[in-house]
Order: sequence, then C-alpha cells, then structure tokens
Amino acid sequence: MDEWMASRPVQHLVAAMLVLVATCLGVVPGQAEETAAADAQPAQMEPARTMNGLALKPPMGWNSWNKFNCNINEALVHKMADAMVASGMKDVGYQYIVIDDCWHGTRDADGFIQPDLQRFPSGMKAVADYVHSKGLKFGLYSDAGRKTCGGRPGSQGYEYQDALQYARWGVDYLKYDWCNTGTRNAQEAYTLMADALRATGRDIVFSLCEWGNQQPWLWGKTVGNLWRTTGDIYDKWEGKRTYSLGVMNIVDINEPLWPYAGPGHWNDPDMLEVGNGGMTDTEYRSHFSLWAIMAAPLIAGNDLSAMDEATKRILLNREVIAINQDPLGVQGRRVSKDGDKEVWAKPLSGGGRAVLLLNRGSQPVRIAVDWALLDYPAGLQAQVRDLWQHEALAPRRGSYAAEVPAHGVVVVKLQP
Ligand code: GLA
Repeated sequence: MDEWMASRPVQHLVAAMLVLVATCLGVVPGQAEETAAADAQPAQMEPARTMNGLALKPPMGWNSWNKFNCNINEALVHKMADAMVASGMKDVGYQYIVIDDCWHGTRDADGFIQPDLQRFPSGMKAVADYVHSKGLKFGLYSDAGRKTCGGRPGSQGYEYQDALQYARWGVDYLKYDWCNTGTRNAQEAYTLMADALRATGRDIVFSLCEWGNQQPWLWGKTVGNLWRTTGDIYDKWEGKRTYSLGVMNIVDINEPLWPYAGPGHWNDPDMLEVGNGGMTDTEYRSHFSLWAIMAAPLIAGNDLSAMDEATKRILLNREVIAINQDPLGVQGRRVSKDGDKEVWAKPLSGGGRAVLLLNRGSQPVRIAVDWALLDYPAGLQAQVRDLWQHEALAPRRGSYAAEVPAHGVVVVKLQP
C-alpha cells in the first residue's frame, strides 16, 4: 500500500467533518436545496422521450399526391372518402384520407393558417367532419420549412399555432415534409412539431417525410410514427427520374432498414402507385406484396372512384393485408438472393411466416425456399396457403418452390 492510499481514510474523515461544520454554518447547501438545484438542469433530469402510442400497425389510407398532385379540392376529397367506403377498402382496414400539398391558402391576421378557399370553400373543419362522418380519419400535409415543396406556406416558426389549428379542425394524421429547410437539423425540427402536436392533446399520427436524408430511423421512433426512407416513388418498376425512384430502387434502400421498424414506428418507402397506370398488374401485385411484407404503410395513391377489377383485387387482398398488419410488427426482409431470384420472409405472430418469392427478371423462373432460411427445423411440416390464389396448397416439409412470372411474386403463408 503506498502512502497516498494509506492516507485516504484520514482525508475522507477530514472532508466529512468539514462538510458537517460547513452545513451547520449554512456555508454549503443542504440536501433539499441540492435537489432543487438539480431540478433546474433539465438536460440531466428529463425523463426519456416516449413514443406517442399511435399506429401500432402500419397506417392504411389514401393520399392525394401520387395521382392528383396539386389538383385537389373538397369535392375530390369527399369523392375519395365515399369511394373508400363503397369499394370495401374501409372494411379491409384503410382508414386515413390524407390531403397532401397545395391545400393551403394564407395565414389570417393572427397567423392561423387557412385553406385555399377556392378549393375548399366550406373550410377544413367541414372537410374533416365529412371524412369523420364516413367512419374514416383525416390527414393533412405541411412542411418543416417556410414553404412546402409546392410553394405553399410551411410551418417553420408557426409549429404550435399550426398544430393547434389542425387539432381544432379534427386532424388525425400529419405528413410533415422537408422542402426549404436549408441547414435545419431534422431531429430538432421534427421534435419541435412532435411536441406541438402532443401539446394539443389530440391523437395525431405523425408522418416524417425527410426522405431519409438525416437517417430518421436512428432517432424517429420517439418523434413520429413513420418516416420516409427514400426520395419520391414514381409509377415505374425500376429507374430514376430526378428525385424519384422506381419500385425496385426503393425496395433496395428500404430493405436493410428492417431492424428499425416495429409497432408504432415504421419505415415508409412512400405511397402506393397501384392503379395509376405505369406498371402491369403483375408489377403492381409485386409492389403491393413487397410493401405488405416490409410492414410499410399502405397508403393508396390512385383514384379510388375509378378502379378497375385488377386494381381492386390488389388493394383489397385481405390475406396480403393481414401479413402487413400482423400484430408482431416485424418488417420482413430478403433472406436470399441469387441474381434475379429473391426470397423474402416475415415472421408472424403464432409462429407462421409470410414468404415472398420475387422474380426481378424478364423470364419466368422457379424459386425455392429452404426452411433453414426461415429458422424452421428441416423436418418441420407446415401448412401452405397461397395468398394471391387464395387457396390452401399441400403441406410441405423442408422446402417450398414455385414458378414465378417475370417481375412477379408468389406469396405464401406457412403455418407449422
Ligand atoms: C415531396 C414529398 C411528396 C409530396 C410532395 C408534395 O416531394 O416527398 O411525397 O408530398 O413533396 O409537394
């Protein structure tokens, strides 16, 4: 033992006596005062931020942007709400009617945002009331910059006032974009709006739309309920067009982010293009199935009042939707890739697996999945149900294989 160590007990004793004397003399603060002083330092005492408890399953709904861009008005929104009910979409789980960019007018004298009264002459509260009267929920769009991507007023500097206005109107969902934000820090900007939404006391699902620029999957879980992981989708199987990406390009960016998704916090690979005309029905089936297995929000982006039978069969496929909405909330992922042949799997509650065989090539191919890829013992027997043919197949042991059309998928549910 060296001299320094040996002298420590003595030093402690001396220090304790000094504190005792000083406390009695009122020179150092007592315990109560110490706690009060610590309370004044929120950085140390603040409880961990919690999730908002909403969107425990991937949100399902419709958004105006992909089909209608800025060509929106209240008659269109009524029509889409009516069609969501009449088509049966509401019955299979679609819920939100979301108005995207270009609904805004100007701010009133007190700074409260107003809708464009040419397009929404009855006001936004009336539109929300109409949507609610159909048993649906209502969503709006804004932006963390001073202007939206479409050049309308953004929420920067008006976060609490806008949140209050949305709550007064009856908004249930806010998509919050990232145009014109300059050098803003995304986590701070989105947290500010998240706090403003919480302060209203209304349940408002918060959709972060900053395109994955500042890795929202690393911090978004306690800020919002879904975050875009990519640039905008466009209605093509594959390719790039300025800021937009085809379905395959988006899939490849969104897939590796699977560990970050879960109940209440989802990766958002953007809204659906099903029914918009740029892809074949086979490609749309693949697009929808991939979104379903990736536990992505299922936000239709087509004209719901003019759907052909093929579009309806895709958007209304209850069995594929059930994969997406499975309560376990795990994002499915690619478990094998051999050129254009891919196998995707999503664990389901109850021990089942959704399995998707994807053929990215332009010729039909046979694709097989071995149980080892699914964390199943080789000898396990599983029931097999084809979720597009809507039929039970013979039970399998060890593996399953199927012929998959060009740009197509086969989706089965395995149940041991
Ligand atoms: C951005 C978003 C789109 C859409 C448009 C509206 O591009 O990513 O989803 O909201 O803005 O201008």
